[in-house]
Amino acid sequence: METPEMINAGDLVLKRWELAWADEAAAAIAESLPELKPFLPWAKDGYGLGESRSFIQMSLDNWAAGTEFNYAIFTTVGDLVGSIGLMTRMAPGTLEIGYWMRTPWAGRGYMTAAVSVLTRIALSLPGVERVAIRYDEANKASAAVAAKAGFVEVERTERIPEAPGETPILITALAGSPPPGGETPGGR
Ligand SMILES: CC(C)(COP(=O)(O)OP(=O)(O)OC[C@H]1O[C@@H](n2cnc3c(N)ncnc32)[C@H](O)[C@@H]1OP(=O)(O)O)[C@@H](O)C(=O)NCCC(=O)NCCS
Repeated sequence: METPEMINAGDLVLKRWELAWADEAAAAIAESLPELKPFLPWAKDGYGLGESRSFIQMSLDNWAAGTEFNYAIFTTVGDLVGSIGLMTRMAPGTLEIGYWMRTPWAGRGYMTAAVSVLTRIALSLPGVERVAIRYDEANKASAAVAAKAGFVEVERTERIPEAPGETPILITALAGSPPPGGETPGGR
């Protein structure tokens, strides 16, 4: 399975993460912490260059291993505005999308555009039948992105919250073919 290293998405360009962007990524995350912290367990006070370099190196390693495909999101004028990735950690045939947006660029429809394009590409890959987004019941912005990008809620499961804004309820929404037998693709 191979995803493109660069994807054009209207006003945005998705590019496979590079270590050269670690400084800018750390700055983007630092200024977005109030919005990221509630729902992303890794987004913590003090997030800096070390954490950012580790994330990018892990992304490069996992890309090479074929298990995760993480992209930095840029505007066409070169601002680094977020991150989006495809993960194979759910059931075979299912890719999960994860994402965050840099706060000054939030609310412009950017993540909906990025999710829509990446989902279309994911569903064209051999062996990929569906794409999933899993978000906390309290994460209204993520729910709105999933719905606007055409994902349909299929399941609510209980789990132990990991980030400070999370409830015990995790929602799974899918795009593509429904899973065989109506079961939701597990994993985590
Ligand atoms: C989720 C996130 C990526 C959305 O990025 P974005 O670029 O702002 O998304 P969009 O502009 O495409 O759409 C956001 C939608 O959420 C809605 N929204 C935002 N905050 C909301 C809230 N508190 N309640 C209800 N809707 C909300 C917006 O109104 C918009 O919907 P609309 O176009 O119908 O008005 C961003 O909020 C984020 O980074 N959140 C923190 C990290 C996170 O939760 N990641 C996902 C984990 S599953």
